[in-house]
Amino acid sequence: MRIALGCDHGGIDLKDATIRAIVDNSHEYIDYGTYSHESVDYPDYAMKVALAIRNGEADKGILICGTGIGISIAANKFRGIRCAHVVDVFSAQMCVEHNDANIMAMGGRITDSTDAYKLVEKYLQSTFAGGRHAIRVDKIKAIEDKEFNR
Ligand code: RB5
Repeated sequence: MRIALGCDHGGIDLKDATIRAIVDNSHEYIDYGTYSHESVDYPDYAMKVALAIRNGEADKGILICGTGIGISIAANKFRGIRCAHVVDVFSAQMCVEHNDANIMAMGGRITDSTDAYKLVEKYLQSTFAGGRHAIRVDKIKAIEDKEFNR
């Protein structure tokens, strides 16, 4: 898979571990920034990654800010994006198996590099279970269809 990677200054310290987990699991990545500790606005990076997925440049995404909260909220404003804010390995698995999350968000001030590697690895190794979960994800899409056109 091709993974779109985006972070703000609060998430940049997890970037190396994230890239290692992507490459070690034989995936490719595109780094949409940020590239320094200079303060930036997390919605800008959520948008880059969300649009990369929407336009087919990437299959899935990883977003990182200080908490993982702001960047996941912003990403979920894009139609077709299901961004899961994850802090534990079980959720990294479930967000794919049950929710078909196409972006996983982490917090650089919450999760350390060792755990970030494990979260990314589990996220990439998991597959959507379909079945009853597909019915539920379709209901999320139906909400988008209704609410995003208001
Ligand atoms: C930036 O200081 C911080 O607000 C941001 O990284 C993130 O935690 C927002 O949710």
